[in-house]
Amino acid sequence: MRAVLVGPPGAGKGTQAQILASELSIPKVSTGDIFRANVSGGTELGKKAKEYMDRGDLVPDEVTNAMVKDRLARDDAAAGFLLDGFPRNVAQAETLGTILADLDTSLDVVLELRVDEEEVVKRLSGRRSCPECGRVYHVEYDPPNAEGRCDNEGAELYQREDDREETIRHRLEVYREQTAPLVEFYAARGLLATIAATGSVEEVTARAKAAIEKAGADS
Ligand code: AP5
Repeated sequence: MRAVLVGPPGAGKGTQAQILASELSIPKVSTGDIFRANVSGGTELGKKAKEYMDRGDLVPDEVTNAMVKDRLARDDAAAGFLLDGFPRNVAQAETLGTILADLDTSLDVVLELRVDEEEVVKRLSGRRSCPECGRVYHVEYDPPNAEGRCDNEGAELYQREDDREETIRHRLEVYREQTAPLVEFYAARGLLATIAATGSVEEVTARAKAAIEKAGADS
């Protein structure tokens, strides 16, 4: 299964990608997670990405595309992957098509997670993440067993820099202007499956699995 998850910030892409990747035994490839790991590791890539991320803007395509090309060429992605947060604009989608054609493969499905903007603001302002394993929680909707600590690692959870309300609003604008056109782009190619990303995490997972299974059966 080669799938892309697309949806506004806070739609639950990372949450669902983690669950689905584990159930399907394929890697979750999250450009946001790769950038954040590079920022906290102080790498050259992290230094380039940080100023864009802090503002809520997209990191330039040449940086992002090269990073994804390297990641998808690794052995663990040969049997499939779930892309979370890439592509983010039409130019990245075209590059992804070329990367996959060079690897002699193609996408099976693009899963759009749909949720309204006020819900997104509530979700992101309560989000907490584990610095060790990347697992995402919500203080109210999906709390850890022990307050402020990861269930897997016991590490202290942190709040992302770009989850302040004004940056969230800017990220939503960037989504509307640059990423939302991908819905039409992939619908025109017969790859789009749209699900409601509201309700519990488990309900969204059930809808996502049904859409992915249908895409697998159709392809
Ligand atoms: P990225 O990390 O990709 O951020 P994003 O797209 O803004 O998405 P989020 O991670 O904020 O949300 P999500 O949909 O994954 O939601 P989550 O599952 O965490 O990108 C960050 C930055 O990196 C970008 O701004 C950009 O600078 C850069 N970047 C990344 N990719 C790039 C690219 N391709 N090109 C250029 N730049 C790029 O859930 C959110 C919260 O809601 C959590 O607290 C969760 O517990 C909760 N939640 C989840 N599901 C539910 C539910 N069903 N009900 C209630 N709460 C829920």
